[in-house]
Amino acid sequence: MAPGLLRMHFHDCFVRGCDASVLLDSPTNTGEKDALPNAGSLRGFAEIDAIKAEVESICPGVVSCADILALAARDAVVKVGGRYWSVPLGRKDGFVSSMAEANTVLPSPFMTFPQLVLNFAAVGLNVMDLVILSGGHTIGQAHCAVVNPRLYNFNGVPGATDPLLDPSFANLLRTMCPSDQPLTIVGQMDATNSTFDTNYFRAVNNRRGLFLSDSTLLSNPVARRIVNRAARSPRSFFSDFGRSMVKMGNINVLTGSQGEIRQVCSAVNTNA
Ligand code: HEM
Repeated sequence: MAPGLLRMHFHDCFVRGCDASVLLDSPTNTGEKDALPNAGSLRGFAEIDAIKAEVESICPGVVSCADILALAARDAVVKVGGRYWSVPLGRKDGFVSSMAEANTVLPSPFMTFPQLVLNFAAVGLNVMDLVILSGGHTIGQAHCAVVNPRLYNFNGVPGATDPLLDPSFANLLRTMCPSDQPLTIVGQMDATNSTFDTNYFRAVNNRRGLFLSDSTLLSNPVARRIVNRAARSPRSFFSDFGRSMVKMGNINVLTGSQGEIRQVCSAVNTNA
């Protein structure tokens, strides 16, 4: 579940800040969970609920769901080989969760470099953060729906393949992702899929990035230098990753009298 928990914190923070809004159930299916980038692919909700229940049983009303997401993301990374970083705490949980908002602000895997830069800048993150945090794609899985347009229909041209993809990698992906199977899962974001390491950056360098948003990091000289450095030096990648995760974890947090500490992560408190 490590990849699911890491991605969950990212998707929480980009929409209304790190306020656990991604965890709220919506009776009308119009919450963040129901947005295109989340529905059917975001994983770890039951695990977060279980963690929260245990924490509540020991320390009721003290630890917010937003803090649990931040800590779970860090612990997940450490568990699969990444390096520890200190997580600043004190986030409160929000009251609002909007599908429309999530659909608008979460980055798409089909974005080009300039689009990604703008998307990250909107939440106060820079090119360094963009490249380093993309390193999260060293673990986890993806659905063929995200990859197939690069393999079969690039730029809307039937039969065209994304030229940014290494041709032999494109062939391999076509065996994993038949054109009519968008729900099939590619269980490999890089060659060492269950380990948090720097192989993602080597993959990107070798034109084996899974998404356009990965491949496009080579299109800018500054980003390319960051990719190269991370590929060469696990030490620098690990410390950069921790720094950028803290920055991401600080996006628009609710503190003090703002927000609440939810009793259960999937619903706002009834006395709110
Ligand atoms: C740069 C913009 C990003 C885009 C466009 C993007 C897009 C995606 C997409 C489309 C998937 C596959 C989902 C699926 O089909 O199941 C995915 C998976 C994943 N992403 Fe990203 N992502 C981005 C940045 C990040 C960041 C900043 C992190 C964390 C620091 C992250 C962590 C992950 C992880 C761990 C997975 C695997 C999830 C799993 O196995 O359930 N991504 N991402």
